[in-house]
Amino acid sequence: MAGKTEELGTVVSTMDGPTTTAFSFVLNSDSVRKGQFVKVETEDGILIGSVSDITRANRYFERAESVAEYERNGSRVMESFPTTDWEYTIANCRALGLYSHDNLLVRNVFPPAPGSKVMPVEENKLKEFLGLDDGGLEIGKLAAHNVAAKLNLNRLLQKHIAVLAMSGAGKSYLASVIIEELLDRKKESGRPAVIIIDVHGEYTGFAEGAGGYRDRTTVIDGKKIRIGMPAVSPQVLCDFMPEISGTAKRELISKLEALHKERREKHEPYGIDDLVHAIEGDPSIKDNIKGPLISWLYTLKGQRIFGKATYPTLKDLAQPGRLAVLDLSDIDSMKKKQIIVAYFGRKLFRARKKEKIPPFLLMVEESHNFAREKAKSSEFFAKPVIETIAREGRKFGASLCLISQRPVQLSTTALSQCNTHIIMRVTNPYDIDHIGESSEGIDKGMLGAITTLRTGEAMVVGEATNFPVFIKVRLRKSRRSSKGESIESIARKFEEMREKKKQDVEAFL
Ligand SMILES: Nc1ncnc2c1ncn2[C@@H]1O[C@H](COP(=O)(O)OP(=O)(O)O)[C@@H](O)[C@H]1O
Ligand SMILES: [Mg+2]
Repeated sequence: MAGKTEELGTVVSTMDGPTTTAFSFVLNSDSVRKGQFVKVETEDGILIGSVSDITRANRYFERAESVAEYERNGSRVMESFPTTDWEYTIANCRALGLYSHDNLLVRNVFPPAPGSKVMPVEENKLKEFLGLDDGGLEIGKLAAHNVAAKLNLNRLLQKHIAVLAMSGAGKSYLASVIIEELLDRKKESGRPAVIIIDVHGEYTGFAEGAGGYRDRTTVIDGKKIRIGMPAVSPQVLCDFMPEISGTAKRELISKLEALHKERREKHEPYGIDDLVHAIEGDPSIKDNIKGPLISWLYTLKGQRIFGKATYPTLKDLAQPGRLAVLDLSDIDSMKKKQIIVAYFGRKLFRARKKEKIPPFLLMVEESHNFAREKAKSSEFFAKPVIETIAREGRKFGASLCLISQRPVQLSTTALSQCNTHIIMRVTNPYDIDHIGESSEGIDKGMLGAITTLRTGEAMVVGEATNFPVFIKVRLRKSRRSSKGESIESIARKFEEMREKKKQDVEAFL
Protein backbone atom coordinates (compact mmCIF):
# COMPACT_ATOMS: atom_id res chain seq x y z
CA MET A 1 0.00 0.00 0.00
CA ALA A 2 1.06 3.55 -0.61
CA GLY A 3 3.12 5.13 2.11
CA LYS A 4 2.24 8.63 3.17
CA THR A 5 4.80 10.33 0.99
CA GLU A 6 4.91 7.88 -1.85
CA GLU A 7 4.59 9.57 -5.19
CA LEU A 8 1.81 8.07 -7.29
CA GLY A 9 2.63 9.53 -10.67
CA THR A 10 3.01 12.55 -12.91
CA VAL A 11 0.34 14.68 -14.59
CA VAL A 12 0.50 14.34 -18.35
CA SER A 13 -0.90 16.39 -21.13
CA THR A 14 -3.36 14.44 -23.26
CA MET A 15 -5.72 15.25 -26.12
CA ASP A 16 -8.35 16.40 -23.67
CA GLY A 17 -6.52 17.69 -20.68
CA PRO A 18 -5.58 18.67 -18.13
CA THR A 19 -8.61 20.94 -17.70
CA THR A 20 -10.20 22.55 -14.67
CA THR A 21 -12.42 19.49 -14.22
CA ALA A 22 -10.24 16.55 -15.26
CA PHE A 23 -6.63 15.50 -15.51
CA SER A 24 -4.66 12.35 -16.15
CA PHE A 25 -1.45 11.02 -14.72
CA VAL A 26 0.99 8.30 -15.62
CA LEU A 27 1.38 5.89 -12.75
CA ASN A 28 4.71 5.13 -11.23
CA SER A 29 3.17 3.09 -8.46
CA ASP A 30 0.97 0.03 -8.63
CA SER A 31 -1.05 1.10 -5.65
CA VAL A 32 -3.49 3.34 -7.53
CA ARG A 33 -7.08 2.10 -7.76
CA LYS A 34 -10.27 3.30 -9.31
CA GLY A 35 -12.16 5.51 -6.87
CA GLN A 36 -9.00 6.52 -5.01
CA PHE A 37 -8.53 10.15 -3.97
CA VAL A 38 -5.27 11.85 -4.94
CA LYS A 39 -3.74 15.31 -4.61
CA VAL A 40 -1.69 17.53 -6.88
CA GLU A 41 0.10 20.70 -5.90
CA THR A 42 -0.81 23.60 -8.15
CA GLU A 43 -0.05 27.31 -8.21
CA ASP A 44 -3.35 28.01 -6.43
CA GLY A 45 -3.08 25.36 -3.72
CA ILE A 46 -3.69 21.65 -3.33
CA LEU A 47 -6.03 20.10 -5.86
CA ILE A 48 -7.92 17.00 -4.81
CA GLY A 49 -9.07 14.56 -7.47
CA SER A 50 -10.54 11.09 -7.68
CA VAL A 51 -9.51 8.36 -10.08
CA SER A 52 -12.42 7.72 -12.46
CA ASP A 53 -10.70 5.03 -14.49
CA ILE A 54 -7.35 3.50 -15.28
CA THR A 55 -6.10 2.46 -18.70
CA ARG A 56 -2.97 0.65 -19.76
CA ALA A 57 -1.29 1.49 -23.02
CA ASN A 58 1.64 0.20 -25.02
CA ARG A 59 2.62 2.06 -28.16
CA TYR A 60 4.35 -1.03 -29.48
CA PHE A 61 1.00 -2.77 -29.76
CA GLU A 62 -0.73 0.19 -31.39
CA ARG A 63 0.77 -0.48 -34.80
CA ALA A 64 -0.44 -3.46 -36.80
CA GLU A 65 3.02 -4.23 -38.27
CA SER A 66 4.70 -4.40 -34.89
CA VAL A 67 1.95 -6.65 -33.55
CA ALA A 68 2.34 -8.92 -36.60
CA GLU A 69 6.10 -8.99 -36.03
CA TYR A 70 5.52 -9.90 -32.42
CA GLU A 71 3.17 -12.72 -33.36
CA ARG A 72 5.71 -14.14 -35.84
CA ASN A 73 8.74 -13.95 -33.64
CA GLY A 74 7.30 -14.00 -30.14
CA SER A 75 10.00 -14.34 -27.58
CA ARG A 76 12.77 -13.27 -29.95
CA VAL A 77 11.19 -9.83 -30.21
CA MET A 78 10.95 -9.72 -26.46
CA GLU A 79 14.71 -10.22 -26.28
CA SER A 80 15.68 -7.59 -28.81
CA PHE A 81 12.79 -5.25 -28.02
CA PRO A 82 11.74 -5.17 -24.39
CA THR A 83 8.12 -4.46 -25.31
CA THR A 84 7.06 -4.30 -21.68
CA ASP A 85 9.22 -1.24 -21.24
CA TRP A 86 6.86 0.53 -23.59
CA GLU A 87 3.94 -0.15 -21.36
CA TYR A 88 2.51 2.57 -19.16
CA THR A 89 -0.63 3.05 -17.16
CA ILE A 90 -2.73 6.19 -17.08
CA ALA A 91 -5.21 7.17 -14.42
CA ASN A 92 -7.95 9.58 -15.45
CA CYS A 93 -9.14 11.78 -12.62
CA ARG A 94 -11.94 14.12 -11.82
CA ALA A 95 -10.71 17.38 -10.34
CA LEU A 96 -13.02 17.81 -7.36
CA GLY A 97 -11.91 20.80 -5.34
CA LEU A 98 -8.97 22.90 -4.30
CA TYR A 99 -7.59 23.77 -0.91
CA SER A 100 -6.38 27.35 -1.42
CA HIS A 101 -3.19 28.55 0.27
CA ASP A 102 -5.22 29.69 3.28
CA ASN A 103 -6.73 26.16 3.47
CA LEU A 104 -10.18 27.06 2.20
CA LEU A 105 -11.95 24.52 0.03
CA VAL A 106 -12.83 26.23 -3.23
CA ARG A 107 -13.77 25.33 -6.75
CA ASN A 108 -10.83 24.64 -8.98
CA VAL A 109 -10.49 27.37 -11.66
CA PHE A 110 -7.17 26.51 -13.29
CA PRO A 111 -5.83 23.18 -14.57
CA PRO A 112 -2.85 21.53 -12.87
CA ALA A 113 0.39 21.80 -14.82
CA PRO A 114 1.58 18.78 -16.82
CA GLY A 115 4.59 17.39 -15.02
CA SER A 116 3.12 18.02 -11.54
CA LYS A 117 3.57 15.21 -9.03
CA VAL A 118 0.49 13.28 -7.90
CA MET A 119 0.48 12.20 -4.26
CA PRO A 120 -1.81 10.27 -1.93
CA VAL A 121 -4.14 12.31 0.28
CA GLU A 122 -3.47 12.02 4.02
CA GLU A 123 -6.26 10.29 5.92
CA ASN A 124 -7.25 13.31 7.99
CA LYS A 125 -7.31 15.59 4.99
CA LEU A 126 -9.44 13.07 3.14
CA LYS A 127 -11.97 12.84 5.98
CA GLU A 128 -12.16 16.62 6.15
CA PHE A 129 -12.49 16.90 2.38
CA LEU A 130 -15.33 14.38 2.20
CA GLY A 131 -17.05 15.67 5.32
CA LEU A 132 -16.79 12.39 7.24
CA ASP A 133 -17.41 12.51 10.98
CA ASP A 134 -15.50 10.44 13.55
CA GLY A 135 -18.67 10.30 15.66
CA GLY A 136 -20.85 9.36 12.69
CA LEU A 137 -22.46 6.13 11.50
CA GLU A 138 -19.82 3.68 10.30
CA ILE A 139 -21.42 1.98 7.35
CA GLY A 140 -18.24 0.61 5.82
CA LYS A 141 -14.94 1.62 4.34
CA LEU A 142 -14.11 3.93 1.49
CA ALA A 143 -13.43 1.88 -1.61
CA ALA A 144 -9.71 2.08 -2.50
CA HIS A 145 -8.81 3.47 0.94
CA ASN A 146 -8.44 1.91 4.32
CA VAL A 147 -10.57 4.64 5.85
CA ALA A 148 -13.83 4.12 7.72
CA ALA A 149 -16.83 5.70 6.02
CA LYS A 150 -18.47 7.41 8.98
CA LEU A 151 -21.41 9.54 7.98
CA ASN A 152 -22.57 12.43 10.11
CA LEU A 153 -25.96 11.69 11.64
CA ASN A 154 -27.40 15.16 11.14
CA ARG A 155 -26.37 15.37 7.54
CA LEU A 156 -27.73 11.90 6.90
CA LEU A 157 -31.08 12.18 8.62
CA GLN A 158 -31.93 15.83 8.26
CA LYS A 159 -33.26 15.44 4.77
CA HIS A 160 -34.06 11.74 4.32
CA ILE A 161 -32.22 8.88 2.65
CA ALA A 162 -32.98 6.76 -0.40
CA VAL A 163 -31.32 3.36 -0.81
CA LEU A 164 -31.69 2.37 -4.45
CA ALA A 165 -30.48 -0.76 -6.21
CA MET A 166 -31.61 -3.88 -7.99
CA SER A 167 -32.50 -6.89 -5.89
CA GLY A 168 -29.63 -8.80 -4.44
CA ALA A 169 -27.31 -5.78 -4.45
CA GLY A 170 -27.30 -5.52 -0.66
CA LYS A 171 -29.94 -2.90 0.22
CA SER A 172 -31.47 -4.75 3.15
CA TYR A 173 -28.04 -5.71 4.42
CA LEU A 174 -26.98 -2.07 4.34
CA ALA A 175 -30.24 -1.07 6.05
CA SER A 176 -29.37 -3.54 8.85
CA VAL A 177 -25.93 -1.96 9.18
CA ILE A 178 -27.48 1.51 9.43
CA ILE A 179 -29.86 0.21 12.12
CA GLU A 180 -26.97 -1.33 14.09
CA GLU A 181 -25.10 1.96 13.99
CA LEU A 182 -28.17 3.85 15.23
CA LEU A 183 -28.85 1.36 18.03
CA ASP A 184 -25.21 1.39 19.11
CA ARG A 185 -25.15 5.14 19.67
CA LYS A 186 -24.56 6.43 23.15
CA LYS A 187 -27.20 8.43 24.91
CA GLU A 188 -24.91 11.49 24.99
CA SER A 189 -24.59 11.45 21.21
CA GLY A 190 -28.35 11.52 20.65
CA ARG A 191 -30.35 8.42 19.79
CA PRO A 192 -33.27 8.53 17.42
CA ALA A 193 -35.94 5.85 17.42
CA VAL A 194 -35.91 3.49 14.43
CA ILE A 195 -39.02 1.97 12.89
CA ILE A 196 -38.82 -0.35 9.90
CA ILE A 197 -41.62 -1.48 7.63
CA ASP A 198 -40.39 -5.02 7.05
CA VAL A 199 -42.36 -6.56 4.19
CA HIS A 200 -40.30 -9.76 3.97
CA GLY A 201 -39.60 -10.40 7.65
CA GLU A 202 -35.88 -9.77 7.10
CA TYR A 203 -35.27 -7.75 10.24
CA THR A 204 -36.76 -9.97 12.91
CA GLY A 205 -33.24 -11.35 13.46
CA PHE A 206 -32.54 -8.22 15.52
CA ALA A 207 -34.69 -9.77 18.21
CA GLU A 208 -33.19 -13.26 17.97
CA GLY A 209 -30.25 -14.79 19.79
CA ALA A 210 -28.69 -13.88 23.10
CA GLY A 211 -26.92 -10.56 23.46
CA GLY A 212 -26.76 -8.47 20.34
CA TYR A 213 -29.71 -6.22 19.75
CA ARG A 214 -32.45 -8.31 21.31
CA ASP A 215 -32.89 -6.02 24.30
CA ARG A 216 -33.28 -3.01 22.03
CA THR A 217 -35.73 -4.48 19.53
CA THR A 218 -39.50 -4.87 19.49
CA VAL A 219 -40.90 -7.08 16.75
CA ILE A 220 -44.52 -6.39 15.95
CA ASP A 221 -46.29 -9.29 14.32
CA GLY A 222 -48.29 -7.92 11.41
CA LYS A 223 -51.23 -10.20 12.13
CA LYS A 224 -51.64 -8.67 15.57
CA ILE A 225 -51.64 -5.08 14.37
CA ARG A 226 -54.94 -3.33 15.09
CA ILE A 227 -56.29 0.14 14.76
CA GLY A 228 -58.50 0.78 17.76
CA MET A 229 -61.93 1.96 16.67
CA PRO A 230 -62.23 4.44 19.55
CA ALA A 231 -59.09 6.21 18.32
CA VAL A 232 -60.20 6.41 14.69
CA SER A 233 -61.27 9.82 13.54
CA PRO A 234 -63.98 9.96 10.88
CA GLN A 235 -61.42 11.48 8.54
CA VAL A 236 -59.10 8.49 8.85
CA LEU A 237 -61.91 6.13 8.00
CA CYS A 238 -62.94 8.24 5.00
CA ASP A 239 -59.34 8.24 3.78
CA PHE A 240 -59.53 4.48 3.43
CA MET A 241 -62.68 4.63 1.31
CA PRO A 242 -62.03 7.27 -1.31
CA GLU A 243 -64.75 5.99 -3.65
CA ILE A 244 -67.78 6.62 -1.44
CA SER A 245 -70.09 9.53 -2.13
CA GLY A 246 -70.16 12.77 -0.19
CA THR A 247 -73.56 11.92 1.31
CA ALA A 248 -72.36 8.50 2.45
CA LYS A 249 -69.29 10.14 3.98
CA ARG A 250 -71.45 12.58 5.92
CA GLU A 251 -73.59 9.74 7.28
CA LEU A 252 -70.50 7.80 8.26
CA ILE A 253 -68.98 10.78 10.02
CA SER A 254 -72.11 11.54 12.01
CA LYS A 255 -72.62 7.89 13.00
CA LEU A 256 -69.00 7.46 14.06
CA GLU A 257 -69.05 10.68 16.07
CA ALA A 258 -72.23 9.63 17.83
CA LEU A 259 -70.71 6.23 18.63
CA HIS A 260 -67.55 7.83 19.97
CA LYS A 261 -69.61 10.09 22.21
CA GLU A 262 -71.97 7.42 23.52
CA ARG A 263 -69.31 4.80 24.30
CA ARG A 264 -66.77 7.20 25.72
CA GLU A 265 -69.30 8.40 28.25
CA LYS A 266 -69.91 4.80 29.27
CA HIS A 267 -66.20 3.91 29.03
CA GLU A 268 -67.10 0.97 26.82
CA PRO A 269 -64.78 -0.37 24.11
CA TYR A 270 -66.20 -0.74 20.62
CA GLY A 271 -65.20 -2.03 17.23
CA ILE A 272 -66.19 -1.85 13.59
CA ASP A 273 -69.19 -4.14 14.22
CA ASP A 274 -70.75 -1.54 16.46
CA LEU A 275 -70.45 1.03 13.70
CA VAL A 276 -72.00 -1.37 11.20
CA HIS A 277 -74.92 -2.03 13.57
CA ALA A 278 -75.48 1.65 14.17
CA ILE A 279 -75.68 2.32 10.43
CA GLU A 280 -77.76 -0.77 9.64
CA GLY A 281 -80.20 0.03 12.40
CA ASP A 282 -80.85 3.60 11.34
CA PRO A 283 -84.02 3.75 9.19
CA SER A 284 -83.37 7.40 8.31
CA ILE A 285 -80.42 6.48 6.08
CA LYS A 286 -81.59 5.87 2.50
CA ASP A 287 -80.99 2.40 1.12
CA ASN A 288 -78.98 3.62 -1.84
CA ILE A 289 -76.54 5.20 0.65
CA LYS A 290 -76.71 2.50 3.28
CA GLY A 291 -76.03 -0.38 0.87
CA PRO A 292 -72.63 0.76 -0.45
CA LEU A 293 -71.60 2.08 2.96
CA ILE A 294 -72.26 -1.22 4.69
CA SER A 295 -70.64 -3.22 1.93
CA TRP A 296 -67.55 -1.07 2.11
CA LEU A 297 -67.40 -1.39 5.91
CA TYR A 298 -67.58 -5.16 5.50
CA THR A 299 -64.62 -5.02 3.13
CA LEU A 300 -62.66 -3.10 5.76
CA LYS A 301 -63.80 -5.51 8.44
CA GLY A 302 -62.53 -8.36 6.26
CA GLN A 303 -59.04 -6.90 6.48
CA ARG A 304 -59.14 -7.59 10.23
CA ILE A 305 -57.33 -4.38 10.94
CA PHE A 306 -59.85 -2.46 13.04
CA GLY A 307 -60.18 -3.64 16.61
CA LYS A 308 -61.18 -2.41 20.04
CA ALA A 309 -57.71 -1.16 21.00
CA THR A 310 -54.71 0.00 19.01
CA TYR A 311 -51.64 -2.20 18.74
CA PRO A 312 -48.79 -1.25 18.55
CA THR A 313 -48.88 1.85 20.70
CA LEU A 314 -46.59 4.82 20.22
CA LYS A 315 -44.57 3.49 23.11
CA ASP A 316 -44.06 0.18 21.33
CA LEU A 317 -43.01 2.00 18.18
CA ALA A 318 -40.77 4.87 19.12
CA GLN A 319 -38.23 4.85 21.94
CA PRO A 320 -34.79 6.48 21.85
CA GLY A 321 -32.14 4.00 20.71
CA ARG A 322 -34.70 1.25 20.06
CA LEU A 323 -35.84 -0.54 16.95
CA ALA A 324 -39.43 -1.44 16.15
CA VAL A 325 -39.84 -3.98 13.35
CA LEU A 326 -43.30 -4.01 11.78
CA ASP A 327 -43.18 -7.50 10.37
CA LEU A 328 -45.72 -7.48 7.55
CA SER A 329 -44.42 -10.67 5.95
CA ASP A 330 -47.49 -12.71 6.84
CA ILE A 331 -49.95 -10.19 5.45
CA ASP A 332 -51.00 -10.94 1.90
CA SER A 333 -53.39 -8.08 1.30
CA MET A 334 -51.65 -5.07 -0.19
CA LYS A 335 -54.58 -2.94 0.94
CA LYS A 336 -54.01 -3.93 4.53
CA LYS A 337 -50.29 -3.17 4.33
CA GLN A 338 -51.15 0.23 2.87
CA ILE A 339 -53.57 0.94 5.71
CA ILE A 340 -50.96 -0.02 8.31
CA VAL A 341 -48.24 2.18 6.83
CA ALA A 342 -50.67 5.06 6.30
CA TYR A 343 -52.15 4.92 9.78
CA PHE A 344 -49.01 4.35 11.81
CA GLY A 345 -46.91 6.66 9.62
CA ARG A 346 -49.36 9.48 10.23
CA LYS A 347 -49.61 8.67 13.92
CA LEU A 348 -45.83 8.78 14.30
CA PHE A 349 -45.56 12.05 12.44
CA ARG A 350 -48.32 13.71 14.49
CA ALA A 351 -46.80 12.51 17.74
CA ARG A 352 -43.39 13.79 16.68
CA LYS A 353 -44.83 17.20 15.84
CA LYS A 354 -46.19 17.40 19.37
CA GLU A 355 -42.84 16.10 20.69
CA LYS A 356 -44.50 13.13 22.32
CA ILE A 357 -41.89 10.79 20.84
CA PRO A 358 -38.15 11.19 20.09
CA PRO A 359 -36.88 12.08 16.62
CA PHE A 360 -37.28 8.99 14.48
CA LEU A 361 -36.13 7.31 11.33
CA LEU A 362 -38.90 5.50 9.48
CA MET A 363 -37.40 2.97 7.07
CA VAL A 364 -39.65 1.63 4.34
CA GLU A 365 -38.69 -1.51 2.42
CA GLU A 366 -40.22 -1.83 -1.06
CA SER A 367 -41.09 1.82 -0.77
CA HIS A 368 -42.19 1.99 -4.42
CA ASN A 369 -45.17 -0.10 -3.32
CA PHE A 370 -46.15 2.43 -0.68
CA ALA A 371 -45.29 5.68 -2.44
CA ARG A 372 -45.82 4.93 -6.08
CA GLU A 373 -45.43 7.65 -8.67
CA LYS A 374 -48.47 6.65 -10.71
CA ALA A 375 -50.83 5.65 -7.95
CA LYS A 376 -54.57 5.52 -7.73
CA SER A 377 -55.59 7.07 -4.42
CA SER A 378 -57.99 4.19 -3.92
CA GLU A 379 -55.12 1.75 -3.73
CA PHE A 380 -52.19 3.64 -2.37
CA PHE A 381 -53.28 4.99 0.97
CA ALA A 382 -49.73 5.34 2.26
CA LYS A 383 -48.45 7.67 -0.44
CA PRO A 384 -49.78 10.96 1.02
CA VAL A 385 -48.25 10.22 4.43
CA ILE A 386 -44.85 9.37 3.00
CA GLU A 387 -44.90 12.48 0.83
CA THR A 388 -45.92 14.64 3.79
CA ILE A 389 -43.07 13.34 5.95
CA ALA A 390 -40.73 13.77 2.98
CA ARG A 391 -41.74 17.41 2.59
CA GLU A 392 -42.19 18.50 6.20
CA GLY A 393 -40.43 15.92 8.34
CA ARG A 394 -37.13 17.75 8.46
CA LYS A 395 -38.54 20.57 10.58
CA PHE A 396 -39.69 18.10 13.20
CA GLY A 397 -36.99 15.44 13.30
CA ALA A 398 -39.00 12.88 11.34
CA SER A 399 -36.75 11.20 8.79
CA LEU A 400 -37.36 8.64 6.10
CA CYS A 401 -35.18 5.98 4.60
CA LEU A 402 -36.84 4.79 1.40
CA ILE A 403 -35.51 1.47 0.14
CA SER A 404 -36.43 0.45 -3.37
CA GLN A 405 -35.41 -1.72 -6.28
CA ARG A 406 -37.74 0.19 -8.62
CA PRO A 407 -36.70 3.84 -8.36
CA VAL A 408 -38.63 4.60 -11.56
CA GLN A 409 -41.86 3.71 -9.78
CA LEU A 410 -41.07 5.68 -6.64
CA SER A 411 -42.89 8.95 -6.05
CA THR A 412 -40.75 11.76 -7.45
CA THR A 413 -42.06 14.07 -4.72
CA ALA A 414 -40.71 11.74 -2.07
CA LEU A 415 -37.51 10.87 -3.91
CA SER A 416 -36.64 14.50 -4.60
CA GLN A 417 -36.74 15.18 -0.85
CA CYS A 418 -34.21 12.45 -0.16
CA ASN A 419 -31.02 14.43 -0.18
CA THR A 420 -28.75 11.48 0.38
CA HIS A 421 -28.89 8.70 -2.15
CA ILE A 422 -27.09 5.48 -1.45
CA ILE A 423 -26.95 3.68 -4.74
CA MET A 424 -25.86 0.08 -5.09
CA ARG A 425 -25.70 -2.08 -8.21
CA VAL A 426 -28.25 -1.16 -10.86
CA THR A 427 -28.14 -2.56 -14.38
CA ASN A 428 -31.55 -1.69 -15.84
CA PRO A 429 -30.97 1.25 -18.23
CA TYR A 430 -34.28 2.92 -17.31
CA ASP A 431 -33.38 2.88 -13.65
CA ILE A 432 -29.87 4.16 -14.42
CA ASP A 433 -31.30 7.09 -16.39
CA HIS A 434 -33.75 7.85 -13.64
CA ILE A 435 -31.04 7.81 -11.00
CA GLY A 436 -28.91 10.09 -13.18
CA GLU A 437 -31.77 12.57 -13.32
CA SER A 438 -32.77 12.40 -9.69
CA SER A 439 -29.37 12.30 -7.98
CA GLU A 440 -27.48 15.56 -8.07
CA GLY A 441 -23.77 15.59 -8.66
CA ILE A 442 -23.20 12.29 -10.40
CA ASP A 443 -21.68 12.20 -13.83
CA LYS A 444 -21.79 9.68 -16.68
CA GLY A 445 -18.68 7.90 -15.47
CA MET A 446 -20.21 7.32 -12.04
CA LEU A 447 -23.45 6.08 -13.58
CA GLY A 448 -21.38 3.60 -15.58
CA ALA A 449 -19.63 2.51 -12.39
CA ILE A 450 -22.99 1.75 -10.75
CA THR A 451 -23.59 -1.06 -13.22
CA THR A 452 -20.34 -2.75 -12.23
CA LEU A 453 -20.68 -2.52 -8.44
CA ARG A 454 -20.48 -5.81 -6.58
CA THR A 455 -22.83 -6.91 -3.83
CA GLY A 456 -22.23 -4.75 -0.77
CA GLU A 457 -20.63 -1.90 -2.68
CA ALA A 458 -22.38 1.44 -2.79
CA MET A 459 -22.08 5.00 -3.95
CA VAL A 460 -23.10 7.70 -1.49
CA VAL A 461 -24.14 10.97 -3.09
CA GLY A 462 -25.76 14.08 -1.72
CA GLU A 463 -26.06 15.74 1.65
CA ALA A 464 -24.20 13.13 3.72
CA THR A 465 -20.81 13.69 2.08
CA ASN A 466 -19.23 16.70 0.36
CA PHE A 467 -18.51 14.65 -2.75
CA PRO A 468 -19.84 11.36 -4.10
CA VAL A 469 -17.93 8.44 -2.59
CA PHE A 470 -17.79 4.76 -3.27
CA ILE A 471 -17.88 2.56 -0.23
CA LYS A 472 -17.73 -1.09 0.70
CA VAL A 473 -20.44 -1.83 3.24
CA ARG A 474 -19.07 -3.44 6.42
CA LEU A 475 -20.07 -6.85 7.75
CA ARG A 476 -23.15 -6.88 9.93
CA LYS A 477 -23.07 -7.74 13.61
CA SER A 478 -26.73 -8.59 14.00
CA ARG A 479 -28.24 -11.96 13.20
CA ARG A 480 -29.87 -12.63 9.92
CA SER A 481 -33.54 -13.20 10.30
CA SER A 482 -34.48 -16.85 10.14
CA LYS A 483 -37.04 -15.82 7.54
CA GLY A 484 -34.20 -14.70 5.31
CA GLU A 485 -32.71 -18.19 5.46
CA SER A 486 -31.41 -19.88 2.35
CA ILE A 487 -33.64 -22.31 0.49
CA GLU A 488 -31.04 -25.01 1.20
CA SER A 489 -31.30 -24.60 4.91
CA ILE A 490 -35.10 -24.31 4.93
CA ALA A 491 -35.38 -27.47 2.81
CA ARG A 492 -33.02 -29.34 5.11
CA LYS A 493 -34.93 -28.30 8.23
CA PHE A 494 -38.21 -29.26 6.60
CA GLU A 495 -37.00 -32.80 5.95
CA GLU A 496 -35.48 -33.04 9.43
CA MET A 497 -38.80 -32.05 10.92
CA ARG A 498 -40.67 -34.57 8.78
CA GLU A 499 -38.34 -37.33 9.90
CA LYS A 500 -38.63 -36.36 13.52
CA LYS A 501 -42.42 -36.43 13.27
CA LYS A 502 -42.29 -39.85 11.69
CA GLN A 503 -40.00 -41.10 14.44
CA ASP A 504 -42.30 -39.63 17.06
CA VAL A 505 -45.29 -41.38 15.53
CA GLU A 506 -43.40 -44.68 15.36
CA ALA A 507 -42.26 -44.33 18.97
CA PHE A 508 -45.85 -43.64 19.95
CA LEU A 509 -47.14 -46.72 18.17
N1 LIG B 1 -21.95 -5.85 2.67
C1 LIG B 1 -22.18 -7.15 2.52
N2 LIG B 1 -21.30 -8.06 2.97
C2 LIG B 1 -21.53 -9.38 2.83
N3 LIG B 1 -22.64 -9.91 2.27
C3 LIG B 1 -23.56 -9.07 1.80
C4 LIG B 1 -23.38 -7.65 1.90
N4 LIG B 1 -24.44 -7.06 1.35
C5 LIG B 1 -25.25 -8.05 0.94
N5 LIG B 1 -24.74 -9.25 1.20
C6 LIG B 1 -25.38 -10.55 0.88
O1 LIG B 1 -25.94 -10.47 -0.42
C7 LIG B 1 -27.24 -11.01 -0.46
C8 LIG B 1 -28.27 -9.99 -0.94
O2 LIG B 1 -28.33 -8.92 -0.03
P1 LIG B 1 -29.69 -8.18 0.31
O3 LIG B 1 -29.35 -7.12 1.31
O4 LIG B 1 -30.76 -9.11 0.70
O5 LIG B 1 -30.04 -7.53 -1.11
P2 LIG B 1 -31.30 -6.63 -1.53
O6 LIG B 1 -32.00 -6.19 -0.29
O7 LIG B 1 -30.71 -5.49 -2.30
O8 LIG B 1 -32.13 -7.49 -2.39
C9 LIG B 1 -27.55 -11.52 0.94
O9 LIG B 1 -27.30 -12.89 0.97
C10 LIG B 1 -26.56 -10.78 1.81
O10 LIG B 1 -26.20 -11.53 2.94
MG1 LIG C 1 -33.98 -6.47 0.28
